[in-house]
Amino acid sequence: MKPVLHFYVTYFLCLTLGVLCVVFVLYWNTTWRGGFAWDGSAHQFNWHPVMMVTGLVVLYGNAAVLYRIPSTWAKKKQPWKLLHAGLLFLALLLSVLGLCAAFDFHNANHIPNLYSLHSWVGISTTAFFTFQWVLGLTAFLLPCSPITFRKLVKPVHVWMGSIIFVMSVASCLTGINEKLIFISQGKTNATQRYPALPPEYVFANILGVLILAFGLVVLKILLNQRWQRPEEGHNENTRLLAVEHS
Ligand code: HEM
Ligand SMILES: *[C@@H]1O[C@H](CO)[C@@H](O)[C@H](O)[C@H]1NC(C)=O
Repeated sequence: MKPVLHFYVTYFLCLTLGVLCVVFVLYWNTTWRGGFAWDGSAHQFNWHPVMMVTGLVVLYGNAAVLYRIPSTWAKKKQPWKLLHAGLLFLALLLSVLGLCAAFDFHNANHIPNLYSLHSWVGISTTAFFTFQWVLGLTAFLLPCSPITFRKLVKPVHVWMGSIIFVMSVASCLTGINEKLIFISQGKTNATQRYPALPPEYVFANILGVLILAFGLVVLKILLNQRWQRPEEGHNENTRLLAVEHS
């Protein structure tokens, strides 16, 4: 397969899996978890998985692979930088709101905060992400930021970007697992518990697998050297043309 075609097939898979993740997390919480509210109840908590999956996985993942789209390479980078930062701002906003939903729910119901492995991995993920976003804005979008500073920050930014994404997928997988075990504990009828695998649990397990698959496709795009945007100032598209003819 030609490299450009190979990219777009992978990218299509990435977009499809991203949409499926959002649809699945919404369907799970409306069909089996009673839907949404902002009143300190379990219905407020339901915003937590929806906002975390949509923000810190799907929007974040899509923002991360944005520069790899070959049809954008011949164009100026600035608008794509703004879109990258904008999508990540939305991701940050959703993850802060999603955390508020979880913390509010805990506080309103006198449940301790930050006791689980999930919450530790999750809070570290959002802390790193906030730091990364502010540093990225300072280094790459502030016009007065010196070029030496940009060159220094860039490799750290690229590496941290992937690390945060992996941590985000890990947070979701532990979160789904924990939620399923919690709701199973409340059931007295054995046929409705996790080991009996009623439909809700099957569905949420599939959501976890979809998140993992989305994560692997995003990483595949990020780690492929041939799909990197050629550096500014170099002959645009030369790299892509070179691989196309090889
Ligand atoms: C990037 C994704 C996620 C992050 C960063 C994250 C982060 C957090 C944090 C920091 C808490 C602690 C709140 C508190 O102590 O008051 C928490 C709680 C919780 N989260 Fe998530 N979460 C994520 C995704 C999910 C998903 C997809 C689910 C699936 C249902 C989930 C289920 C839970 C549950 C059940 C709790 C309450 C129990 C606990 O504190 O561990 N989380 N999350
Ligand atoms: C347990 O749940 C199943 C399925 O929801 C139901 O058919 C069954 O009657 C329940 N058993 C008891 C003892 O409530």
